[in-house]
Amino acid sequence: MSRTRRTFLHQVAAFGIASAALGRRAFAQQMTMPMPQSSQPHAPQKLPRMLHNLELAPFVDAMPLPAVAHPDTNGRIRIGMHEVHAKLHRDVPPTRLWTYKAIGSPDQSGLAPLIEARSGQPLHVEWSNQLPQHHFLPVDFSLHGCGRDIPEVRACVHLHGSKTPPDSDGYPEDWYAPGKSRTAHYPLQQEAATLWYHDHAMGLNRLNMYAGLFGMAILRDDAEAALGLPSSKYEVPLILFDRNFSADGQLFYPSSGKPEHPWVPEFEGDAILINNKIRPYFEVEPRMYRFRLLNTANSRFFQLSLSAGHGFHQIGSDQGLLSAPLPMKHLLLAPAERADLLIDFSTLSGQKLHLLHGALPILEFRVANISPSAAYSIPSTLRQIERTPASRVARTRTITLDEAVDHIGNSMQMYLDKKRWHEPATEFPKLGSTEIWEFVNLTEDVHPLHLHMVRFQILDRRLFDVFAYRNNNGLHYLSDALPLEPNEMGWKDIVQCPPEIVTRIIVTFDGYPGKYLYHCHVLEHEANDMMRPFEVVA
Ligand code: C2O
Repeated sequence: MSRTRRTFLHQVAAFGIASAALGRRAFAQQMTMPMPQSSQPHAPQKLPRMLHNLELAPFVDAMPLPAVAHPDTNGRIRIGMHEVHAKLHRDVPPTRLWTYKAIGSPDQSGLAPLIEARSGQPLHVEWSNQLPQHHFLPVDFSLHGCGRDIPEVRACVHLHGSKTPPDSDGYPEDWYAPGKSRTAHYPLQQEAATLWYHDHAMGLNRLNMYAGLFGMAILRDDAEAALGLPSSKYEVPLILFDRNFSADGQLFYPSSGKPEHPWVPEFEGDAILINNKIRPYFEVEPRMYRFRLLNTANSRFFQLSLSAGHGFHQIGSDQGLLSAPLPMKHLLLAPAERADLLIDFSTLSGQKLHLLHGALPILEFRVANISPSAAYSIPSTLRQIERTPASRVARTRTITLDEAVDHIGNSMQMYLDKKRWHEPATEFPKLGSTEIWEFVNLTEDVHPLHLHMVRFQILDRRLFDVFAYRNNNGLHYLSDALPLEPNEMGWKDIVQCPPEIVTRIIVTFDGYPGKYLYHCHVLEHEANDMMRPFEVVA
């Protein structure tokens, strides 16, 4: 895919924010189909015969649900990382995956366990690396921290969205080789939220996650339980991602065609999977359901809606409940973002409803032909969310998002604040202090930025003059603050930073002192080199 093409797609993907503001919503709505996988224009890559996912029969597999992992009475869970071969579609041979599973479990589904935890109850997870010694995806040994002098397979686990002391947070350099394990301690002194865990090994996590190393964790508290939202079998995780497959059903990860530097700047797979099945179906009753959506794709933004213009309510985002349910028809979900939705099937007995990505149906809900259960009324408020007052701000940090391109415009590397990962930390927020971080996006892509340890609020976005900025003429705004989407008003740990826009967040560094990181959650960007340390100082 050409650079312009992917730039266009990424800009379009931001339709919920930037493009709407720029009047490009019409464009976005024409963007209907997932794109075939990209290949970089460097050198012709020898492609295997590929599986054409749009030719596979949709809705032939029931959507599985992850096994639930509950901590024992001491708050412990033991989870291993394993290679499995799993059926991802009726007509596709078993696919080699790397996954997490509870130690001792015979599960071969490749669907990692859903960890159930309670706010304020410490959780201890033993993460045991039982992966093979060699990677099955194209390792780029030229990336920082990815040399041939260290074990080829490395793993470390980050509980995304958790407030965790640094030694248990899965710092990318704290990896361990097959045969080794680590126990991480999670105090979970934070409010209910949909969290997730995934690999974070330096230079490898885009491949480890593509191989399947991710899972969901639900953190619950009493305030949320008191709302009486749909629960047990009416509360359903939906883990969305995309993949490419070769004709024999194996994962295909593209390469630049340069043997010494196979890294690609991003790509999208043509198969959309939910809970490890390609375009599955899910049987529901005619009543209200709660769905916990999570985008675990390497680069893809999902543009979600329901068929026939059916609406839904969003009740939560990355860091838990919104202040009130939001009636919606479209949802843009960037990599690593979560959305908590209520969907009402009560008027649809005996009918089908589809979840769409663009115009492509990716999940079929089959509503049982029975009479609807008693009406459910959605609570009118969910929780108090106080906007963090600007008066509390101790300082503002300006951070540029940059990209280096070669002479024909191929992306070579991306940076935060023009610095690489291995350069010494430059941001030292004080424990407990409040800061504004403004991200000045000089690239042509939307970058979903994530800060470890903290939750934050999005303040605003403003267009600025990129040309003037590049020519050292300072930051000149070209617009007033653009309105945020209503579903961006809750607590977040990912913020979408569209091109040519300054995106500001306000964040209080509550938690623990020590070394953390922030990065773009497009995994290819993160690997090369859009990831930087920050250090919270006491
Ligand atoms: Cu999902 Cu460094 O994070």
